[in-house]
Order: sequence, then C-alpha cells, then structure tokens
Amino acid sequence: MTMTIYCEPGPDATFPGSAEPAYAVPEPSLLPALLADRPEAQLVVLGPGVPLAEAVAFTTRQRVERPALGVVLLREQVEVTVLAEAMRAGIREVVAAGDRAAVDAACARSLELTRRLNPAAPAAGAQVITVFAGKGGVGKSTVATNLAVTLAAGGRRRVCLVDLDLQFGDVGILLQLPPDRSLADAAAMAGRLDEDAVRSLITPYRPGLDALLAPAGPAEGDQVGRELVTELLSVLAPMYDFIVVDTPPYVSDQVLAALDRTDWFALVVTPDLPALKSARLTLTTFEMLEYPADRRLIVLNRADSEVGLTVADVEKALGQPAAVLMPSSRDVPMSVNRGVPLAADRPAHPVARAIADLAARCGARDDAPARRPMARLFGRRR
Ligand SMILES: Nc1ncnc2c1ncn2[C@@H]1O[C@H](COP(=O)(O)OP(=O)(O)OP(=O)(O)O)[C@@H](O)[C@H]1O
Ligand SMILES: [Mg+2]
Repeated sequence: MTMTIYCEPGPDATFPGSAEPAYAVPEPSLLPALLADRPEAQLVVLGPGVPLAEAVAFTTRQRVERPALGVVLLREQVEVTVLAEAMRAGIREVVAAGDRAAVDAACARSLELTRRLNPAAPAAGAQVITVFAGKGGVGKSTVATNLAVTLAAGGRRRVCLVDLDLQFGDVGILLQLPPDRSLADAAAMAGRLDEDAVRSLITPYRPGLDALLAPAGPAEGDQVGRELVTELLSVLAPMYDFIVVDTPPYVSDQVLAALDRTDWFALVVTPDLPALKSARLTLTTFEMLEYPADRRLIVLNRADSEVGLTVADVEKALGQPAAVLMPSSRDVPMSVNRGVPLAADRPAHPVARAIADLAARCGARDDAPARRPMARLFGRRR
C-alpha cells in the first residue's frame, strides 16, 4: 500500500498526476499534524502554489524527522535556481506541474526509494558499528580496520568495512587494496541499488571481509549523499553479519545516515584535552538523544600514554567507563607500512587483544538493536 498526500493552496486544487492522492491539503502548515497521524504516508507532493520557502522549510524538517518520506515539488516552470535550492533541502524531484508523465514518473521513483529506505522495516541482518571521533588522528581507522578483521574471524563471519571518510578515507591504503572501485561508483546507481550492484562496488580483502572504499579523490565524495548511504546500508545489511563504518572527524551528512542505522557506537578518544573535549560534546549529544548508554563504547586509544591524562581522569571527565583500553605501540604504524592490520597477523598483540575485547562487546545479538533518530540534534545545527 502506498500513500500519497497532495498539498496545494486554493479551493479546487486537482492533483496533476494519474494516481489519486489519499489526502489533499490546502496549506503546508497542516502537513505536520496530518503526517503525525499517518505514519504510513510515504510521499508528499507539493503543488505549484506552495511557496518555495515553505516547501524548503517543510522538507528540511522532514529530512531529519522522517528521512524515508519523499517530497516531490511541482512548479509551473522548473528553474535551475529552484532546483538547486530544492535539492539542497532534500526535495527528491522538481517537476513541471503540466507534465503528467513526468509527475507520475517522479512519484513512482520516490515511492520506490521510500520502499527501500523504509526504516520501519525490520532491521535485517548486519549489526552496524560506527567508529567515530570528533577529532582527527585519534585512531578511528586503526580501530575500524582491526575491528573488521577481528569480526570476520578468518571467514567465520561476513563483514563489510565501509569507509565514509569520503574526502580522505584511507581504508584502501591501510589494507593495501587497489583503488579500482569505490563508493563514488554507487552514485550512478542511486535509487536502484541491489545486491548485484553493491557486489560490483565491493573490494574483497580476505575471507569474510569486504571493503567499500572511499573515492580516490576528494571531489568524487560529493556525489555520495545521505540517501545513498542509507540505501547502501539497507542493501548491505542482509548480506553481512557486521558492517563496520569508518568516519571522517566530523559529523557529515553521510555520517548522519550511518548513525541512523547504527547499533554500536565506538567512540575513540585519546588521553589529551582536545580529544576529551570533543568526546564529551559527542556524549552530551547522545545523552540528550537518549542513545542507550550500553550501546556507546568508549575506546581509549593510547591509554598508556605517559604524557597524557590517566584512565581515571578520562573516565571521570566522560562520566562513563572506557569499554576498551588500547595501548600505544610502534607496531601500529609499522603494521600500516606493511599494509596488514595487527589483528590479521598478530592476534596476541596487546592492540589486537584490545580490539578483540571491543568485538566481543559488539558481538551480542541478544536484544533488539537500539536505533534512535541520532540525526535529530545534529540535523538541527545544519
Ligand atoms: N595505539 C596506537 N599506537 C601507536 N600509533 C597509533 C595507535 N593508534 C593509532 N596510531 C597511529 O596514529 C595515526 C592516526 O591513526 P588513524 O589514522 O587510525 O586515526 P584517524 O582517527 O582515523 O585519523 P583521521 O581523522 O585522520 O582519519 C596513524 O599513524 C596510526 O598508525
Ligand atoms: Mg581515519
């Protein structure tokens, strides 16, 4: 069952497409209340009489509150400036109101995309672990690559490592993978990704472990939007047991998409004040979002650093014990130069053992994944 709402001011507004919408609304301001009542609504078509500013405001809000809802905007004439602003707000398509075929096609595409994105669908398959830190260089990629190797357990589990550091992602370098395929190639398939398409993007690394690499150049990363990441994760989920997401040192649109689908949140922090400050900010945000405390795992990297703060200092400042303590070791950068994560060939190494602890913490499949609209607060700042 699909459900479409048409919004157009005026007494005798008629929908210019073929399928009759379930509701006609004369005022954009009435939409939020109607939508709150109708969780099954999948598409809102805004008529040519809806002012652009209101269309943008409405869509921006829905994008955060209800990312799977599609918004299609009709205009008497489609102008480039309108198009740019609409796309930025997250409006899926802008179509000429007089072009019935185009209206029908846009609505069909949007409904199909919503079907794929639908977060109400049961969370199938993979547990998603997002490795994050609001600061660069604290060890996110080190943790993500080693964690992925550990979880794959020599092929006993299926794991996909996704590099969402789209500008400067280095998973490819850390694992010495050829840069032939990347997330940028997904852009051309947006809206119609399936398992075969996703397989064509994947770079196999070793038994049980595949990687979805960041684009080779920073500019290409721009093509990978938030909806595409959501779509990718929903296609990947049934294919794997775990998806490990490496991230840039800031909350990007793409990171928001991953956070919306995240089961385990590994927050990497080092025992120094700048890293601690950004970790605290991140945790405060999670608290406000009521992200369950037992899903946030603090990875204290370089925990033994002699010039740094003590473990107790860090735990006190964060108000939460560290889930994992990872020591500093020259073997980490040396493993990077060899292109083989420590967890792959030295599982008894203290760093690899810390990662194994982290994997164990994420391994439980007992209770339902706790998915929260993590995007809400970050989204508001944007
Ligand atoms: N426990 C450790 N001991 C020694 N060196 C480490 C350790 N963890 C990370 N490093 C080194 O610190 C550097 C940064 O690590 P990494 O690339 O994992 O951080 P990052 O958070 O992903 O950085 P970026 O924000 O730039 O993506 C690398 O040279 C890495 O080898
Ligand atoms: Mg990194």
